[in-house]
Formats: sequence, structure tokens, C-alpha cells
Amino acid sequence: MVDSCQAPQGFLAAVHDAVGAEHCLSDADLKASYELDWTRRFGGPALVVVRPANTSEVASVLAACSRFQVAVVPQGGNTGLVGGSVPRGGEAVLSLGRLNRVLSCDPDEGLLVAEAGTTLATAQAAAASVHAALGIDIAARDSATLGGMVATNAGGIHVIRHGPMRARLGGIEVVLADGTVASRLSGLVKDNVGYDLAQIMTGSEGTLGVVTKVVLHLVPLLPFRVTALIGLRGFAHSAADSAAGVRAVSQVAVALAARLRRRVDCIDALELVYADGMALVREVMGLPAPPDPGADAWLLVEASGGQDPSGMLAEAIENAPGVTEIAVADEAGGRARLWAYRERHTEAIATLGVAHKLDLTLPMNALAEFAGAVRSEVSAALGGGTDTRVILFGHVGDGNLHVNLIGPEPEDYRADDAVFRMVIQRGGSISAEHGVGIAKLDFVTAARSSGDLTVMRRMKSALDPGGILNPGVLLPPVG
Ligand code: FAD
Ligand code: MLT
Ligand code: ZN
Repeated sequence: MVDSCQAPQGFLAAVHDAVGAEHCLSDADLKASYELDWTRRFGGPALVVVRPANTSEVASVLAACSRFQVAVVPQGGNTGLVGGSVPRGGEAVLSLGRLNRVLSCDPDEGLLVAEAGTTLATAQAAAASVHAALGIDIAARDSATLGGMVATNAGGIHVIRHGPMRARLGGIEVVLADGTVASRLSGLVKDNVGYDLAQIMTGSEGTLGVVTKVVLHLVPLLPFRVTALIGLRGFAHSAADSAAGVRAVSQVAVALAARLRRRVDCIDALELVYADGMALVREVMGLPAPPDPGADAWLLVEASGGQDPSGMLAEAIENAPGVTEIAVADEAGGRARLWAYRERHTEAIATLGVAHKLDLTLPMNALAEFAGAVRSEVSAALGGGTDTRVILFGHVGDGNLHVNLIGPEPEDYRADDAVFRMVIQRGGSISAEHGVGIAKLDFVTAARSSGDLTVMRRMKSALDPGGILNPGVLLPPVG
């Protein structure tokens, strides 16, 4: 395997032939943005950045990579947060950015078909133009691509209603490592002829094939949508940022989320932010005071329906334990202002430095206890007395917490490991929605049974026998 920035003789000529010399970037300045990921924690030099325009060009590039044994990193919008989208040292980057067309969007069939480099926002706009929606949304919508979202099985803010990317997918076209094109784009809901190509590729993080087209199921664009930001206070007598304080308000949030899901049948989103994250977002983004500015945490809830869900929502929130003040909005501008407190967490945290971004699922009955305990575990892992900041937020409706550590050096994994151990002890998952990448490799073996891992490894060697597709990502080295 070629693992330095020295291309084997003939390789560059082959990829120039495949895509045109102007779409092969070798200049350091032109390659730079493809070589560092969104977190700035992960990256390395690329042998070359290749930008094909269509499926057959992708096939030719992969055939050349196979022939010359050049490792290749597929890249969409490069918004991934686990180091899987960037070279580690000397791989070719295969950018899907030029495959960016929506090919069809048919509300009667209920399907959108698009090339893999299409951004989520572009696909959402195409769906909206026929009064439909995709049922999936993430804050990185303007850059994240459909192919990247399939490859990571992206989750986001509508999972509790419509599931993750896996559930939205109706078909796929993918190019295998040797250039073979495998296509299943019919979008049929019932089609049981053997293995499911789209599902095999979902969550494979560029290790089994390169996605070139995606079929997504549409959902109705419902006429009434209401967003509420709810101030919460815990019942602890301790300070809000103490372990007991965080645990207490997290218990309130988990209980309120469950109550809302029981009583309101059209909830799209249930998101949680805490006082420290709220203060940071307000300061960095210059946002006005939220409802109950002194709250310990806020639950953001969004519901949509054929009829106005406001009344049902208000009734469900009324007299709920721990609720202090509420702001409600039912038009786009007002809803966006409420969402900003939650969605801008990622950008605000990035201003503090290179964050270690740990994306976890906890069983609901363990989430509050975990949230209370995580700071002291991080501090202990770092030898105590550090000034590491730990900022939590997440998709509380499905048990997904984002734990952001700011302080440890990028290559210092002591705190990451301690948090992953906590999660495994509590029966959770070390990757809720961002994938494994290279950030979580050491914990894959603890998170999966050995039989399960054997299946993954055999799939990898069957589909990519030369091991050229995103080597080092997702599957830990054997032994
Ligand atoms: P990239 O970052 O380019 O790649 C990600 C992985 O997919 C890599 O392993 C890459 O090799 C592989 N890949 C990319 N394209 C292809 C392809 N065509 N074929 C095969 N493999 C491919 N994620 C969530 O799940 N939920 C969220 O709510 C969420 N919010 C975010 C908010 C912000 C502000 C940011 C910066 C990120 C967020 N993310 C979220 C993470 C990220 O947006 C997702 O992981 C997204 O799916 C990545 O898409 P991408 O096109 O940027 O992929
Ligand atoms: C989010 O939910 O905002 C994302 O997954 C991004 C992040 O974890 O920062
Ligand atoms: Zn998320």
C-alpha cells in the first residue's frame, strides 16, 4: 500500500485521464482544506485530491487506485467529527463535491433521487419545492452531503420521529473498490430479493464503497410547526454546575421529554442544553436572554402536524415538574431564533479550542446519573486539578448526549477513554450518530461482540480485498 506522499509511477497520469488534470489537485494550497477535518483535531497530507464529475469517473478513479494500490479517502462536505473524512498521511482524497445534482423529486412516488455530493440543504429545498420534506435534518445542512450522511448513518434532530439516515434511504448507487458500479435505485418499499445494498453501505464510513447516488423517502411538509424553549430547574439544593445539580436537572429533562412523547403524538425534536453551554452560545453569538435566563437547563421541543399542535403541547407542559418559563414560536423567524441557542453550540464550542467531541447514547434511565458524574471522571482521568471544560448538550429524546472536552491536547485520549468506559459500563453506545472514524477505534472491540466484528471484517475483505478504501477507519487493526 502506498502510504507516503509519493505517487506510484503512472498513477497520476491515470487519474488525470479519468477526471481531467484540472480536477486533480496537487498544489499544497489547493489541497489544504481537504486535509484537515471540521474539528481541526484530525488530518494529514493528501497524495492528491481527485474531483470526479460523475459515477463513471468515480469508477475510473477507483479502478486506478486499485491497480496502483493507492489508499483512498472518500470525502463529501468534510463536516464529519471523528477523523474519517481526511487523510492520515499520503492517501488520495476522492471528493464527491462535483456530483451535486438533484436528479428527481417526485411527491407522488414519495422519492427524491440525488447525486451523493448534493448537500442536505439543496435536497431539502428540492423537497420543499414539491411541498415535501426529507424527515432528516442536521445543523451542518449547508455543507454535509447525502453520501456522507449515508456513510455515517447521520442522525440529527428529527430521529425521534423519522429515524436516522438508514430509515430515510430507499436505494443507492455505489462504486466498489475495483470500479464495479452496483446500483439499486428503484425506491420500491417492498423488494425482498436478497441482501440490502443500501443498508450494507449505511454507516460503512467509506470503507466498503463510494456512494454516488442516493434515493430518499419523502415525508409530508406539515402546515403547522411550533417550537418551544423551556427553562428547567433541578430540585437539588446544590449549585447548578455541581454533579448533583447537573444530575437533578437532567432527571427533570429526561422526565419531561418522556412525558411530552407520551402526550403529544407529533413531536419532531427534543433537544437539551445546559447553563454553561447556553452562556457560551449567548456570549459568542451575541444572542438575547432565553426564557428564565437563570435556568439550569433548557429543553427545546418542536412539534408539527396537519393541525396546530400548540394547544396539545401547552397542555402537556403545564404543571410539569421543574418547568420555569417558556418561549414559543410558530413562524420561521421566531423558530430559528429559538433553535439558534441549540444549533450554534458546535460553532461556539469550536471558538474555545480544538474540542474532543464524544457522541454517546445512554439508556434513558442512566442519562442523568452519567451527566452528573462525567466531569469528575474526566478530571480524575487527567490527574485532577485540570482546567478542562466539559460541555454537554444533545438529542435527549433518543438518549444521545454530546460530550465536548476542551483542554486536553488533541492526541491525549485519557479523558476520551474514561468517558467511553463510563458509557460501556452503563450499557450505552460510544457512537450515537457520528461514527467511529479514527477517533474511537480503540473502543470498537469493547462495543461489539467478536462474532459481530468477524462479520464486519469479512464484509470488508470481500468488498475491498486490497484494503484501499479508507484504511484505518472504523475497523481496528487485528491483534
Ligand atoms: P464527510 O465529513 O466528508 O465524511 C464523513 C465520512 O463519510 C467519512 O468516513 C468519509 O470517508 C465518508 N464519506 C463521505 N462521502 C462519502 C461517499 N459519497 N461515499 C462513501 N463514503 C463517504 N451528525 C449527525 O449525525 N447529527 C447531527 O446533528 C450533526 N450535526 C452537526 C453539526 C455541525 C455544525 C457539524 C460540523 C457536524 C454535524 N454532524 C452531525 C456531523 C456531520 O455533519 C455528519 O457526520 C455528516 O453525515 C457528514 O457528512 P459529510 O458529507 O460532511 O461527510
Ligand atoms: C449536533 O447535534 O449539533 C451535532 O451532532 C454536532 C456536535 O456534536 O457538535
Ligand atoms: Zn448531534
